[in-house]
Amino acid sequence: MSAFAAIEVQLEQVPSKWLVTGAAGFIGSHLVEKLLLLGQNVVGLDNFATGFQANLDQVRAAVGDKAWRNFSFIKADICDINACNEAVSGVQYVLHQAALGSVPRSIADPAKTNRANIDGFLNMLIAARDAGVKRFIYAASSSTYGDHPGLPKVEEVIGRPLSPYAVTKYVNELYADVFSRTYDMDCIGLRYFNVFGPRQDPQGAYAAVIPRWFELLCQGVAPQINGDGETSRDFCFIDNTVQANLLAATSENAEACNRVYNVAVGGRTSLNDLYCAIRSLLAESAAEIAQIEPVYADFRNGDVLHSQADISRARELLCYEPSHTVDQGLAATCDWFLGNQRKDL
Ligand SMILES: NC(=O)c1ccc[n+]([C@@H]2O[C@H](COP(=O)([O-])OP(=O)(O)OC[C@H]3O[C@@H](n4cnc5c(N)ncnc54)[C@H](O)[C@@H]3O)[C@@H](O)[C@H]2O)c1
Repeated sequence: MSAFAAIEVQLEQVPSKWLVTGAAGFIGSHLVEKLLLLGQNVVGLDNFATGFQANLDQVRAAVGDKAWRNFSFIKADICDINACNEAVSGVQYVLHQAALGSVPRSIADPAKTNRANIDGFLNMLIAARDAGVKRFIYAASSSTYGDHPGLPKVEEVIGRPLSPYAVTKYVNELYADVFSRTYDMDCIGLRYFNVFGPRQDPQGAYAAVIPRWFELLCQGVAPQINGDGETSRDFCFIDNTVQANLLAATSENAEACNRVYNVAVGGRTSLNDLYCAIRSLLAESAAEIAQIEPVYADFRNGDVLHSQADISRARELLCYEPSHTVDQGLAATCDWFLGNQRKDL
């Protein structure tokens, strides 16, 4: 039995109370879904800045009414300390996902990103400290590697941040480290690398590349590739990210706490290859999509050129083992897009 399967059994036997912030978002909604399926009590918090009620509705449909009764939702902003205090009451594990994502968004409005990602983060840490939660797991980011050219990325070696967003995510790590040492809190940061999967928002100026390309290709529109397409990323399917969160929260390894971990697959896919993979998957349902060529545009300000994680620390200390390759994740994401987004193919 894998370490994760063992944790699933353990959680089912002894349910705990969890807080998922950013619960109406992409990653948060998957965390809520998994926890409810495992019979946990879950509080969700979100202000719907970039999340959707529809995501929570899908979770409800997926888990059924019985499990859904173990979920309560607080519509609030993490910049409101009273709401944070209310949300952590009686909670054992915090999975803090609420933040404003997107490098370009942070370049357009750094103060707004700073408020949610640093002021809000600090509120959550304070609330979790005061409530005496067992463990505080938070969404860190591969953007913290900044301009360091080394590949694969190892946790200790980072460069200078390339965007306000990257600054905020690094500050999160610094705060969590100081809170661990000063207040004896158990904190773990998970540096996500380009997570993708069902329910990721395909729309708006700040959409991530995978849902955006699925959506555009379904509409018969040629997607844009920023740069020459040889930019590469360690794309990570959502189930791997969920696994890392639950392992981090429940790990009994004394060495595991108060660290940051890369959460990825450990591979590297260029945008050109990603484009071909998505186009081929969709072309199985609509052959004309195979003819759509991408449009190449300038490189985007603030983007790193290449990203690939060394996941050996997560493997060693958390027993993390990705369940999905990029291709498996893309196939599952494609099924979801075809089932949920586009009825007209
Ligand atoms: N998706 C990725 O590839 C990726 C990569 C690295 C890090 N992350 C981090 O993972 C976390 C989740 O990202 P996601 O992809 O699910 O994005 P998302 O936008 O789908 O989810 C974020 C959620 O947080 C909520 N939120 C934002 N500001 C808030 C506030 N002030 N108060 C309460 N709720 C607020 C939003 O409404 C949204 O539901 C974020 O912290 C993000 O920075 C994501």
